[in-house]
Amino acid sequence: MADTDIDSAKDYQVDVPVRTEPFFLKGSNHLDWGIKNRLSQIFNPVSGRTVMLAFDHGYFLGPTSGLERIDLSIVPLTPYADTLMLTRGILRTLIPPSYAGGIVLRSSGGPSILKELSDEEIAISIDEVIRLNAAAMAVQVFVGGEHETKSIHNMTRLVDLGNRHGIATLGVTAVGRELVRDANYIRLATRICAELGATYVKTYYVEEDFDTVVAACPVPIVIAGGKKLPERDALELAFNAVEQGACGVDMGRNIFQSECPIAMIQAVRRVVHDNIRPQEAYEYFLELRDQNHSERS
Ligand code: R5P
Repeated sequence: MADTDIDSAKDYQVDVPVRTEPFFLKGSNHLDWGIKNRLSQIFNPVSGRTVMLAFDHGYFLGPTSGLERIDLSIVPLTPYADTLMLTRGILRTLIPPSYAGGIVLRSSGGPSILKELSDEEIAISIDEVIRLNAAAMAVQVFVGGEHETKSIHNMTRLVDLGNRHGIATLGVTAVGRELVRDANYIRLATRICAELGATYVKTYYVEEDFDTVVAACPVPIVIAGGKKLPERDALELAFNAVEQGACGVDMGRNIFQSECPIAMIQAVRRVVHDNIRPQEAYEYFLELRDQNHSERS
């Protein structure tokens, strides 16, 4: 029977304006619902930050130290990562599909460590990215590199495809050996990525003027960990970066090459999401490391 007599029971609360909340991530307010939802799988909407666990290194390095057996070394860390950054081969073969965080797929590649690294192509189709339910595609951008224009073109093509399907694009600024990694260079590279459409950018932390890198980039920045450092120093790097405006870390070797990766990723989390200071985070790391060692012995 038609519902004709219940209007009196309805309450439209006409005096309460419909809520229109800004999206929590810098530069992302005008994106569509789907891409914002995927960005919320990468960045924690409460802290506005992310701990991305990067272990895509094999796409040009092969089985590097700490990644010989991803099933044994990395899978146990995944519950502590907001997001995994990896290749489709490792995702499909080794990562449980029940993993609930964001997936950032390595989407460019080609040359190995034995060749000119900047000579990358797009290495995945958008159908495959959608099939794998990725939240973002990661693409290397070699500003100042031999194949600068091609790498930027790879990024802009992925941005076009990603925007069509509501998938974010992560521009990764790759610094060639011949280039100086300073604020001047990082400002240039990150700004170019943002101007040409990257949804967010991954770059390196620089000690001087990193806050100006963040200020000049209209989209979120996450920092790469880089070469393995002593744990205390890596925690300090993460702290300094987020304190100066980075929206988190995309950390690989400083986690999976740590003497205790499961303790290190948890300490990094406390820095990124709870703003704890490096010394406190280091003490937390030591406590978890010792617990872990005593459980194993
Ligand atoms: C490098 O291009 C790879 O994509 C890594 O994901 C990236 O360098 C982050 O890893 P790490 O913290 O080891 O530098």
